[in-house]
This record gives sequence, structure tokens and C-alpha cells, in this order.
Amino acid sequence: MELDKNPISAWLQEDDTDRLETLWHAADRVRRENVGDAVHLRGLIEFSNHCQRNCFYCGLRSANKKIRRYRMDLDEIVHCACQAKDLGYGTVVLQSGEDPGCSDHWVASLVRTIKEQTGLAVTLSLGERGRDAFLLWRDAGADRYLMRFETSNAGLYARLHPGAPGLEERFRQLLWLRELGYEVGSGVLVGLPGSTHMDLANDILMFAELDLDMIGIGPWIKHESTPLGRGELQDNTDHKRVAASETMTYKMMALARLACPRSNIPSTTALATINAENGCEHGLRRGANVLMPNMTPAVHRADYEIYPAKACFLESSEQRFRIENIGRYVGTGRGDSPNRDARIATGETL
Ligand code: 5AD
Ligand code: SF4
Repeated sequence: MELDKNPISAWLQEDDTDRLETLWHAADRVRRENVGDAVHLRGLIEFSNHCQRNCFYCGLRSANKKIRRYRMDLDEIVHCACQAKDLGYGTVVLQSGEDPGCSDHWVASLVRTIKEQTGLAVTLSLGERGRDAFLLWRDAGADRYLMRFETSNAGLYARLHPGAPGLEERFRQLLWLRELGYEVGSGVLVGLPGSTHMDLANDILMFAELDLDMIGIGPWIKHESTPLGRGELQDNTDHKRVAASETMTYKMMALARLACPRSNIPSTTALATINAENGCEHGLRRGANVLMPNMTPAVHRADYEIYPAKACFLESSEQRFRIENIGRYVGTGRGDSPNRDARIATGETL
């Protein structure tokens, strides 16, 4: 399928169900040919909800005084990682807000301990830091890093992140991660107020340009304790508003699969939140090959409220059945992106 900007934005505006079926099929075929039928499970540990940033869409923003803040200690986190290993997962994802209370050295010792005790692949998702920190964590054994760029529209990015470094800085950080040999993940929000179909088309082109190993795409979900949820952002586009809908999210996932055939693409929690019944399965059939079961201890889970009524994919035989029920199977091993193997083969990654 031709992937210059116009066909992408045409697909994003397509609402003929028969034509959309051809997009779902193309994405599913490309997924199968490139990353196979395995669904990799990544144990997600949301270990701190402290955040120094004030993103207009997110419930963890520092100005939101309504949530109870927590930070798990090292032993508690390592314990969760050991549970992930016992459940047969190949990866743990350590996620937090941008929390300066977790020092670079503390994170490094956390990564080192988890690697020593479990041998699992470790993915970090801690927001922006310095290049030195990324190097320190890589040396401690971190394998992957997730940091969404949220939108490729620099003006919109600036309006959504007042007082924060701009989009250029985000891309610079993603480049550092790549240079340091991480598998690099990024992604966007679908249906942000003020975004256009052309912005989403540019997002897809940016995924390809960054040659991402992992791509997380989820719908924007309204959170009343945020400026965006309260409708405080002036929508200064004349274009038709992009829906923060389930279908738009599937279109973005399917197009991301076509643009980056060998990436690992999760069927996200946000998607399962807007369609608890079968959003997860639809995602897996329209480009995705990864799920992230939530391993955060129950006492903290409700406080990691990025958006309201966040769904949780929890470990259970029923959940595994859902994967098998659509003709797929639970992946074993680390589930690296084949992109990484290609980079190792050409000597680009050590
Ligand atoms: N709806 C959906 N996703 C959100 N995120 C933050 N706030 C929201 C929201 N209201 C996503 C962002 C961020 C990730 C941690 O959560 O894309 O990168
Ligand atoms: Fe913090 Fe991330 Fe939420 Fe922004 S999106 S407020 S950086 S947790």
C-alpha cells in the first residue's frame, strides 16, 4: 500500500466499512508476515505516580492535587518483577511519571537488581532525562525505552505542554536512546482536541522516519481534572475535528503496522478502556501483537489515574483464552522487535 501522506489521511477519513475491512486485513497480514502470531505479554509495573510535568491531558500532572501520590520502594518493585517472571512473561515495563524523587542511581540499581534476579528484558518508561542517565541505565542492563511524542504537530505539542521542553527536545531524546542501543518505543494520542487528520498522517510518517521498535497508540480519554478535559484548550484549527474514537485508533494502529511492519505494537489499555468487551481483540486483529498486563499492586492501581476508569488487563486464564480464541498464542522469550536483530546483524547495535 502506498504510504505517502495523502492516502494515509484519506484512510483516516474513510468510513466505508467494506473499505475499512481491507485496511484491517492488510494490517493483519503484514503483522503475521513480520512478527508472527505470538502475542507477547509485558508485565507493567507503575511504580510511582509522582510527576513534575503538567501535560494538559493527563491525570498525573503535578497541578492535580486530587490524587494520592505514591512511590514504591525497590524491594516492592523487584517482588513484582519476580512475579512477572513466575507468570512466564519475558519483559517487565517499569513506568512512572517524571519523578525526580527517583534518582538516576536509584533507577540504575533497580534495573541491575531486576536483571540479576530475573534475567527479564527491562523496558523503562520514565519520561525525559539526561543522556547520562540513559547511558547509566543502559549500562545497568535496561533493554528498551518508551517515550511517546504524543503529536507530531509542534505547535499543538507546545500548547499541550506549557513550560516544558518542546517537540524537538523529545525527538533529540529519542535519538539518544537509539544511539545508546535501546530498543526505542514511542507513540501518540488519537483525537487530541486541536489535532487534524493531517497531523495524524504526519505521526505515521514520523513513526517510519524514527524507525521505531515499539509503537503505542491510544485514544485520548477525557479527564475532568485536566485542562483538556475541562475544555480549556482553544481549538485553533479550521479543520474537521478528529474523533478520539475507537475506529480512529484502529485506523492509526493498522497504518502504523503498514508503515513499520516489524515493530512491536501493543493493543493498549486506553483502547480496552473505551471498549472493555472486545477492544483488546480488535486491536490484536488490526495490527497489534503485544499486551501489557498490569502488575501494579492493587493498593496503588487506582492512584495511577492517567485517565478515569482505566481498564486493567490482569493475569488470568480467561485473558489467555481471549488470545487463543482469536487464533493467536502467548509468546515466549523476550519478544524483541525483529528490527533489533537486523540492527545487530549490521553492527548498528551492540
Ligand atoms: N487519555 C489517554 N491517554 C493518556 N495519556 C496521558 N493522558 C491520557 C489521557 N487522558 C498517555 C500519554 C502518555 C501515557 C503515559 O499515557 O500518551 O504518554
Ligand atoms: Fe507526567 Fe507523563 Fe502524565 Fe505528562 S503524560 S503528566 S509526563 S505522567
